[in-house]
Amino acid sequence: PHMSRNVHVLNQCEPKVGKTSLIMSLVGEEFPEEVPLRAEEITIPADVTPEKVPTHIVDYSENEQTEEALKEEIIKANVVCVVYDVTQEETIDKVFFPVCLIPIILVGNKSDLRSGSSMETILPIMNQFSEIETCVECSAKNLKNISELFYYAQKAVLHPTAPLYDPEDKQ
Ligand code: GTP
Ligand code: MG
Repeated sequence: PHMSRNVHVLNQCEPKVGKTSLIMSLVGEEFPEEVPLRAEEITIPADVTPEKVPTHIVDYSENEQTEEALKEEIIKANVVCVVYDVTQEETIDKVFFPVCLIPIILVGNKSDLRSGSSMETILPIMNQFSEIETCVECSAKNLKNISELFYYAQKAVLHPTAPLYDPEDKQ
């Protein structure tokens, strides 16, 4: 398919989790010491993406955008990356999941700042929300799992592994 895809990176509640840094690290292939509040929308050309589809990446900043603007972006998106900070495990419970019928990638950023994994904490969340296609821990700082993260996002759109909602739940 040559359809354009949107990969929408967002998180609310806890700011400063590294949403903008993740995008800039992907694009610049190095960790930016200083980032704007919100990255410009970028389009990655098809031929440099693993799945060969042009991919738009849209950042979100609660300082610069209203909740209304966020909703409009979610409507346009095919996949949402919800980012949390792995050093702030206690905030994972507050992670906001948009109500949407599109896949979600749960992204734990700043893995360079801790040794263990936050998987134990997020497994119950994964089980609770069937929209969560996969989860990944990464670091914008040491570029760990950055390209993998955007690959998972593409894959979730092009080859979803699970139905987005279970009809049984609705009865
Ligand atoms: P808002 O747009 O303000 O909500 O923040 P954001 O989620 O876009 O986070 P941003 O990219 O601005 O990063 C916030 C801070 O975390 C900055 O000081 C970054 O340098 C730092 N940071 C981002 N990613 C990483 C990471 O992987 N490791 C470490 N150690 N610091 C990071
Ligand atoms: Mg930002």
